[in-house]
Amino acid sequence: MYFQIACAARAGKTGHCGEWPAGTGLAIASPLLCRIKSNRKQPAFRGILKQIVAIYPGSFDPVTNGHLDLVHRGSKIFHRLIVAIARNLDKGESLFSLDERKQMLQAMTADLENVAIDTFEGLLMAYCVEKEANVVLRGIRAISDYEFELQMALMNRKMEPRVETVFMMPAEKYSYLSSRIVREIAQLGGPLGGLVPDLVERRLREKTTTRQPMAHKLK
Ligand SMILES: Nc1ncnc2c1ncn2[C@@H]1O[C@H](COP(=O)(O)OP(=O)(O)OP(=O)(O)O)[C@@H](O)[C@H]1O
Ligand SMILES: [Mg+2]
Repeated sequence: MYFQIACAARAGKTGHCGEWPAGTGLAIASPLLCRIKSNRKQPAFRGILKQIVAIYPGSFDPVTNGHLDLVHRGSKIFHRLIVAIARNLDKGESLFSLDERKQMLQAMTADLENVAIDTFEGLLMAYCVEKEANVVLRGIRAISDYEFELQMALMNRKMEPRVETVFMMPAEKYSYLSSRIVREIAQLGGPLGGLVPDLVERRLREKTTTRQPMAHKLK
């Protein structure tokens, strides 16, 4: 599958490597090298990898601006992107129910025609086969994500070699952002501006009642 993606990227819509989408953060090196070597000024272009269905799995408890950054980047590249909320057995109690998480994600992606929201249980690779998806999209924030993501990607490849994991980097301003940190700030009554969409912030405030006396003074 890596081979297929690389070829699609090189061929592009019009058959030359200069049309690989700029600034996507997609972790495939060779088209980027082509761009650097060509030394021609290219107009901003975002191409779609035809027929590539990608699944973006996670717990999204709740969805953050970092997740949405990745969804937007993915939707500009893949033919279809399914954001798949996992019923996570190893993460303990979740703050939001699966339905609540799904509703928030649907509201935040309603304007993206090729993005669908779904839930799944069990092996991600089995779900990919069921959906006929050929890519798993994952985000890398910092080196700390790398080890876990590498292990998961390689194990998934061993289970289902037809599915390739593609990593994307968010905008720098989201590289420290996680659902866990958002839940913690919300539970302590701290500020959430810029971390989650307004709708998610409202839902978080409804869920979390703990307040610290000085928390509202923070920006
Ligand atoms: N700010 C972010 N930027 C880029 N990718 C992200 C960001 N937050 C999460 N991701 C990626 O989204 C995918 C799903 O992650 P997940 O649902 O576990 O979110 P999370 O923020 O890590 O939540 P938690 O803190 O509960 O683990 C993972 O590939 C993760 O690396
Ligand atoms: Mg996580």
